This record gives sequence, C-alpha cells and structure tokens, in this order.
Amino acid sequence: MIGVSDARLKHVVRAVIEMTSLSFRAAGPRILVTRGWSPPRRGRPTLCWPAVQRLVPDRIDDVDVAQCYLDDRREPIDGRPWVVVNMATTIDGATALEGRSGGIGGPNDHLAFHALRSAADVVLAGAGTIRAENYGPVRVPDSHVAVRAAAGRPAPAVLASVSRSVAFEPDARIFSDPTQRPLLFTVTDAPAARIAALEPVADIVAVGSGDVDLPSVFAELGRRGVRCVVCEGGPALNGQLIAWDLVDEWCTTIGPILASGSSSRAAHGPGVAAPRGFRLDRLLYDGRDLLARYVADRSATA
Ligand SMILES: NC(=O)c1ccc[n+]([C@@H]2O[C@H](COP(=O)([O-])OP(=O)(O)OC[C@H]3O[C@@H](n4cnc5c(N)ncnc54)[C@H](OP(=O)(O)O)[C@@H]3O)[C@@H](O)[C@H]2O)c1
Repeated sequence: MIGVSDARLKHVVRAVIEMTSLSFRAAGPRILVTRGWSPPRRGRPTLCWPAVQRLVPDRIDDVDVAQCYLDDRREPIDGRPWVVVNMATTIDGATALEGRSGGIGGPNDHLAFHALRSAADVVLAGAGTIRAENYGPVRVPDSHVAVRAAAGRPAPAVLASVSRSVAFEPDARIFSDPTQRPLLFTVTDAPAARIAALEPVADIVAVGSGDVDLPSVFAELGRRGVRCVVCEGGPALNGQLIAWDLVDEWCTTIGPILASGSSSRAAHGPGVAAPRGFRLDRLLYDGRDLLARYVADRSATA
C-alpha cells in the first residue's frame, strides 16, 4: 500500500477486523477495503483509510481519530451526565439515505462513532432510530476495552431508548443479548400489554405521562452514576434535547454527498427562544469527511 506506514497499516488492519464485526451507522453485510474515496454503493459500503488532518484548534497531520474522541474530557453537569449528540449529515443536510444513515459518513466517521460509544456509560437513541437502523447490542472494539476499564467503565455501554408506544418486538435485535438488557424509558400511560411483553427482555422505567420527561431521565441516570450519555439521534429526539438545553457536545460528520430527499435535518421539534451558543472545539478532515466537535458555551448568553 503506497505511502502507508507500518504503524498505520497495522492500525487499519486491526480496525477493519474490529469494524467488520461491529455495526456501522447502518450496517452493510460486506465491506470493500480500498484506498481513495468512491461514492457509496448500494449494499456494499466502501472502507478506506486516508490520513486525517486536524485543522482546528491547530493543524496536525495524521491524527488518530478514535484517540481524539476517547481523550476528550466529559464530566457530569449539575448532577446529570454529560450529553453528547453524534450525527452524520450530507452537505445538503440530509440525515438518511433511503431511510438509514449508512453511506453518509466514511470510515473515519465509523471510528469516531465507535470511540464515542466507548467513551459513554449509556448510548441513547430514539425509538424511531432503533427501529429504522435495526439496532443491536452495543459492542466495544477490542482496542477500547482497556480504555473503558481504565475509566472505570464496564464494557459495553448500556443501550437506552425513549418511546411512548413501546412498539418493539421482543425478538428484535436490540434484545438479542440477555447479558445486555436495554433500558427503555417510557410513559406511565404506555400500552400495558406491550410493557408486559418486553419486561422479560428489557429494563423499563416510566418517567412522565404523554411524553417521557427528558430532564427527569437524565437526573435519574445521574443518580445511577452515569457520567456520559452519547445520543445517536434521531432528529426528533435531538430536537427535544435541544429544547431542554440538555446538549453539552455536538459531534457531526459532514459527508460530501448531495442527497436531497425528505429526511429530517439533524434536529427538529419545538424551536428555542434563546439558541444555545457552541464553540468549535475540533475539526478533522480526512480528504472525504469533515468531523467537527462542538462544545456548549455555557458562559455565553445565547
Ligand atoms: N444521520 C444520522 O446520524 C442519524 C442518526 C440517527 C437517526 N437517523 C435517521 O433518523 C431517522 C429516525 O429519526 P426520527 O427523528 O424519526 O426518530 P427518533 O428521534 O429516533 O425517535 C423518535 C421516537 O422516539 C420516541 N420519543 C422521542 N422523544 C420522546 C419522548 N420525549 N417521550 C416518549 N417517546 C419519545 C417516540 O417513539 P414511539 O414512536 O415509539 O413512541 C418517537 O416516535 C431514521 O431514518 C434514521 O436512519 C440518522
């Protein structure tokens, strides 16, 4: 492989092996490993590993993407966990291609995705995303297990969701590992029969009626010792997190694709009277994707 150092080659091979056994944003069954970038091909994600430049805060050539996200500091705030939202969008703002997020981000987006999961105590996704992306149990890359252990985190993170309808099948992939029961937050008026059907495979907590009360969810997670929640969307859940001013960090990958279509932008829902300001903490570029990390500026009046 021309121009690829032994260390990078080793890193690439290890990552490819790990990632083929992990779910991508939307997993494809087969992965083509190549150099250089080519547009996504239906049913056959393309995996390539160009060097990554850090452009902000200052320029560094060839950074380790996963390590960047693993090293970031994330501490609880006011008794609740630090909340990261992680999304990928096309340059025209689409969040899904044919209903799923796969194909928007390239391989470094996937590295960031798994590193963020490895930095989390809880991975949260709205019920719409769980269903659309056919979520399974969270898996931790072998190379991140020691990092989690050093941070006092068991492997893997707990997968959590919020749902009014609790419309999940008990044999859905999300429930497929009995050692990793998902945590479902729902409402006191959720359908009792569905709750009864899911109780053998999930831990179910009712918080609020009509809507799951998200501030109470995060307060409860804080009481359980959760320090960091990574929210993987979707846009409807993100919109509520923004409305409640619960987002501390926003990680976004911009894939160089124009998709149009009807998918939501990265957040939608009730607007906010005083938009929260964010600071660009880091910007990475791999020749294809831009990977940005924004942190809430809580000192700013919005
Ligand atoms: N590009 C990306 O990075 C990315 C990331 C994630 C998702 N996506 C895409 O986004 C789409 C799914 O997003 P979405 O916005 O439709 O759905 P979503 O935000 O994942 O989930 C919405 C659902 O979550 C439940 N929910 C949310 N807030 C709630 C609350 N306060 N109380 C009770 N239940 C609540 C409801 O579930 P019930 O209907 O069960 O009551 C609601 O219908 C998919 O196409 C997916 O591929 C893209």
